[in-house]
Amino acid sequence: MAPSCLCGMCPGQTHFPEEDTMTRTCPSARVLLLAVIAGACPVLAQPSATEAPAGFDTPTLVAHPGSQSTSNGIAEPAGDTYALDQQAYEQVHDVSSGLGPVYNGRACAECHQNPVSGGASQFTELRAGHRDASGTFVNPTVPIDDGAATISGRSIIDDRALVPEAQEHVPATETIRAFRAALNTLGDGFVEAIDDQTLLAIAAQQPGVSQGRIHGEAIAVPVLESPGQTRVGRFGWKDQHGSLLSFVGDAYLNEMGVTNRLRPKDVTIIGKTTPDPEDLPDALGLADIDHFAEFVRGTKVPPRDAALAESPDAVAGQALFEALGCDTCHVESITTAPAGTVINGGAFTVPDALGNKIIHPFSDFLLHDIRTGDGIVQNPPQDTADKLRTAPLWGLRVRPRFMHDLQSLTLEDAIARHRGEADRAARRFRALSPAEKQQLFTFLDSL
Ligand code: HEC
Ligand code: HEC
Repeated sequence: MAPSCLCGMCPGQTHFPEEDTMTRTCPSARVLLLAVIAGACPVLAQPSATEAPAGFDTPTLVAHPGSQSTSNGIAEPAGDTYALDQQAYEQVHDVSSGLGPVYNGRACAECHQNPVSGGASQFTELRAGHRDASGTFVNPTVPIDDGAATISGRSIIDDRALVPEAQEHVPATETIRAFRAALNTLGDGFVEAIDDQTLLAIAAQQPGVSQGRIHGEAIAVPVLESPGQTRVGRFGWKDQHGSLLSFVGDAYLNEMGVTNRLRPKDVTIIGKTTPDPEDLPDALGLADIDHFAEFVRGTKVPPRDAALAESPDAVAGQALFEALGCDTCHVESITTAPAGTVINGGAFTVPDALGNKIIHPFSDFLLHDIRTGDGIVQNPPQDTADKLRTAPLWGLRVRPRFMHDLQSLTLEDAIARHRGEADRAARRFRALSPAEKQQLFTFLDSL
């Protein structure tokens, strides 16, 4: 990817005649220094790192679900199989299995399915809120049942309900309103296995390679399964979680209304028929959320279109991607923590299948203000209102709509919306010739 530099994040040297300070220097020296200070080196301490397995290998089947899937080799809990994990992920819920009272979808795979279970899709969820007099974001209080009850404490507004009385609507007072697309979860076990220090080192070297323009923000977020512990957030458009188990526990409640040991109470009792928590351990001692986390942790990373990736246009396009500085945020290569590293506040140990693996997510998993921020705050600080996580570009070729709100229908439109921290990269993009732009798109279409 970046042959001139061992750090895997270095774009090499590029000259832009229209700019004053023109040379982008390799940040590896700085990264190493930081790594030494932080006690963790992203790459050099792990010379034996190997490529993470890639593949769309979790086909969605109605008959014998999961039977044709292969995982990345992750060890299963005693008695469990990867097919069983996928069945849980695909299981369609109804009233009797704890769905609702308010929800967005009936199965994880309803929104995470393209082109296989665990991928992304065109589903969007709705969020809302407002700012108080001091400018602080406030979650909505949503009246339901003709004002007889309310739902509060969260920015998500669920689109569906089991009974009409529980249906949520955006109150007129909630002037901040946003749509957010379902995200790809394939390969997320490797993302979870990235050491906090690696993400902090990426953030620390960005100002230096961008003359201060780019400064990704890492936020510490609670690990639900380790009360009192935090981790650098990396999942969700707002980096709202650092642990997959935390995310799926949250999703089971917020997207499907199924209460579980991490989110044990429904947001309303109107229309509720099943006792909390609705997700109970099975005969193996595993709850649904354990199967979901195991399924996601076992997925391979999204594979590239190998033929297109080798084409001269895609190769030239990747060089342009690096020359424009896209890769400062859309980081091309990251190495996961060694197997045996204890993460998630002590609740999870990086397994052999996920440790010391090189991935190509084309993201730094940090928050940036590129002037597309949706105004929502989920974790402090307040400046996250105007920021979003760098969209990982792996699997881009199976997404026909772009950006958090899916409002960009061509790559050119998506790039045109990059301002703020990404302003220089977008300006450089506009200066490309039509042929060069086409090369860049060919590269992006190969991801
Ligand atoms: C109604 C659609 C919908 C359903 C059902 C749904 N999700 Fe999601 N999922 C989303 C959306 C939208 C996001 C982005 C949310 C955000 O950032 O606010 C997301 C994000 C995620 C992420 C973060 C991915 C990343 O790389 O950041 C994970 C993991 C995830 N979902 C797992 C699940 C699991 C497991 C289930 C089933 C319990 C589930 N989801 C059910 C829509 C859905
Ligand atoms: C300062 C960091 C930064 C830089 C530099 C940057 N991006 Fe992005 N990119 C982002 C963020 C943040 C998003 C998500 C924004 C949103 O959804 O509103 C994004 C989203 C995208 C998307 C949409 C992906 C999807 O799945 O919807 C594409 C395509 C993209 N960027 C390409 C590029 C290209 C090409 C360049 C270089 C010209 C570039 N980006 C430079 C931060 C950056």
